[in-house]
Amino acid sequence: MASSITIPQDKPEKAVNHLLDVQGLKTYFFTDEGIVKAVDGLDLKVRRGEIFGLVGESGCGKTVTALSILRLIPKPGRIVEGEIFFDNQAILKLSDREMRQLRGNRISMIFQEPLMSLNPVFTIGSQVAEVLQLHQGLDKETAWEQAINLLDQVEIPDPSDKARSYPHEISGGQAQRVMIATALALDPQLLITDEPTTALDVTIQAQILDLIRELSRDRNTSVILITHDLGVVAEMCHRVAVMYAGRIVEEADVGFFDRPMHPYTQGLIASIPIPGEVKNRLPTIQGNVPDLMGMPDQCRFAERCEARTDYNLNICTEIEPDLRQIHPNHAVRCWLFQSHEDHQAPLIVTEAGVIKRVVS
Ligand SMILES: Nc1ncnc2c1ncn2[C@@H]1O[C@H](COP(=O)(O)OP(=O)(O)OP(=O)(O)O)[C@@H](O)[C@H]1O
Ligand code: SF4
Ligand SMILES: [Mg+2]
Repeated sequence: MASSITIPQDKPEKAVNHLLDVQGLKTYFFTDEGIVKAVDGLDLKVRRGEIFGLVGESGCGKTVTALSILRLIPKPGRIVEGEIFFDNQAILKLSDREMRQLRGNRISMIFQEPLMSLNPVFTIGSQVAEVLQLHQGLDKETAWEQAINLLDQVEIPDPSDKARSYPHEISGGQAQRVMIATALALDPQLLITDEPTTALDVTIQAQILDLIRELSRDRNTSVILITHDLGVVAEMCHRVAVMYAGRIVEEADVGFFDRPMHPYTQGLIASIPIPGEVKNRLPTIQGNVPDLMGMPDQCRFAERCEARTDYNLNICTEIEPDLRQIHPNHAVRCWLFQSHEDHQAPLIVTEAGVIKRVVS
């Protein structure tokens, strides 16, 4: 009698209905000097209502990622490959008109320089009111009253008076609050904030971050928070992705700060100053980000990676590792944790999340 054979099947991943799902995104700039591969095979998933941190050194592709999601890549750049699903809709297939509606109503972005986003010839009140008229169909008078309410909510002092100010008459912190008031008026499902507080002093920075957190919590708005500042990420975010040279190298729940696994992330975290602790020389990551033109087919961090030499890993300069899940909710792109034909991963992560050396 023929015995029945059960072929093990890969278990389907538990379906999480992500608001944003970026798959294999490549955004290149076709310059006279050559092709700059600013974003080069990026996968990113953002859940509904979560604050998602995107971190990495200057030039690693954070802003280009954000502009790609909004389909606002300037020439000579263009998205050359990949898919972006927003609320299950393939947004790279939308017409320009449909995309403009999406940007206006459901995705909005706060830039580092809020004054650049405000129109210098209109008062701040009228700019917020206009959004309310357009997106919530309010009449002029109600929109104005509601705009003052929103300016009050974002703690602009004397909102009725301030509403009549022009952008050049307010401070950077106030301009950023106006941008958040505009985001409240739009009530988007996804808010992308690109270094929203870099230009502000520490106290104002904390207040603006609180407003973003409240907005997300009260309205279940998903937020992509782009920042250099890992301290801000640890405070604000549910999940974090670390970018390096156009790709994600590590992605995890924010608790991973206690056990970063990628050598680049470890270097970034080791460079965070600890409040109250006087450290004259913080460890920094040696070397520079590689040239995004003519990127070799190898781990992009290889030239700077001490772990590669410590563990004598030849594969790092031969083949690029995948971003692989090595623990629930934790993915890493590094040969330290993955094997390949004749390469044995030197480290494993146990069920308890502890990194162990593999004894061969
Ligand atoms: N218009 C452009 N033309 C050519 N290259 C560009 C253009 N815009 C961006 N790039 C390149 O794309 C890469 C990624 O840039 P991006 O602005 O996304 O970096 P970033 O991570 O946001 O850095 P920062 O933290 O400094 O804001 C950089 O190498 C940059 O030089
Ligand atoms: S793959 Fe190799 S070079 Fe790259 S980060 Fe891991 S150990 Fe370092
Ligand atoms: Mg940027």
